[in-house]
Amino acid sequence: MKIFAKQILEWYARHKRELPWRDSADPYRIWLSEIILQQTRVAQGLPYYLSFVDTFPTVNDLAAAPLDQVLRLWQGLGYYSRARNLHACAKQVVSEYGGVFPNSAKALQGLTGIGPYTSSAIASIAFDEQVPVVDGNVYRLLSRLFDDPTDISGSGAYKHFYNKALGLIPKDQPGEFNQAMMEFGATHCKPKNPDCQSCIFVAQCASYINGSVSQRPVKLKKVKVTNRFLNYFMFEFRDRILVNQRAGKDIWQGLHDFYCIEGDLPEEELLSRLAEAIGDDVVRACVIESQSATIKHVLTHQRLNARFFRLSLTDREVYEELAQNHLLLDVPKAKLKNLAKPILIENYLKSGALSLF
Ligand code: ADE
Repeated sequence: MKIFAKQILEWYARHKRELPWRDSADPYRIWLSEIILQQTRVAQGLPYYLSFVDTFPTVNDLAAAPLDQVLRLWQGLGYYSRARNLHACAKQVVSEYGGVFPNSAKALQGLTGIGPYTSSAIASIAFDEQVPVVDGNVYRLLSRLFDDPTDISGSGAYKHFYNKALGLIPKDQPGEFNQAMMEFGATHCKPKNPDCQSCIFVAQCASYINGSVSQRPVKLKKVKVTNRFLNYFMFEFRDRILVNQRAGKDIWQGLHDFYCIEGDLPEEELLSRLAEAIGDDVVRACVIESQSATIKHVLTHQRLNARFFRLSLTDREVYEELAQNHLLLDVPKAKLKNLAKPILIENYLKSGALSLF
């Protein structure tokens, strides 16, 4: 075996974290762990993995579950399209493959939510296929090892580093090798202040030798973060409340929140916009019960600023019309707990807003 692979596999054997999916050769569990770990740290993903395998021990169980239950279990992990794709993929494995995952990277890529990265991870870990995994950790490790100035946000970066990794991956234990690369990147070759003095590759790491470790990897395209202002209106009638199920291409697709007017608006303008949207008469029939302070919540590409207005209606007819005209769901407040919601909403409700959480 090539010397690099030997070194990193030895390191991995000694330093790897004991993680439940690492005891398993079950492609379902490996797939689940890899989908959860996309854009998520191991420490954050672990409890989600455990609750998923506990709730859905097999791909058939997951495929048979309602989407809302899947979204509810996913709550807090973010990137909710992963959860919807997870569910769609489980259904596909059941309907197209009789509940058995296909055993090659190529076939795996035909499944919903499985791209080049995930297919390599599953095929190598579950089926010993010699295909390299290139994730953020691997980009960093390779760009430092070779002092490679290729921009990792560029369109050719994946192929470029894939080929580098292809030159290193052994025929034996490709799955262990891929996990070792990811693990080394995550726990040793860290983005900031890596401990190069204690690194096993200190003598061969080109960027260490050249003094460019802090400049690797090169990432030219910075993520653009936008500010958003969400003004939520919670329409209530006795023990009931109107809820919105999010659709469209925006964040939190499929999750539940409330009627929202977006914009950085002074209160007067906000209320006149509300009147325009739902009708003057409806606004006049509302009593403002409370108004929250601005709650901030940070996503990868967006900084959210949310305010919540609790409005109670006394007229059942007006309330029901409001629900109909704006496609809002009329639910008992006690049922809010069971709905899949963004963490921002969950936190607001937990802060005691409705005395239900
Ligand atoms: N990140 C994503 N998948 C991983 C794995 N199998 N091991 C370590 N880190 C990971």
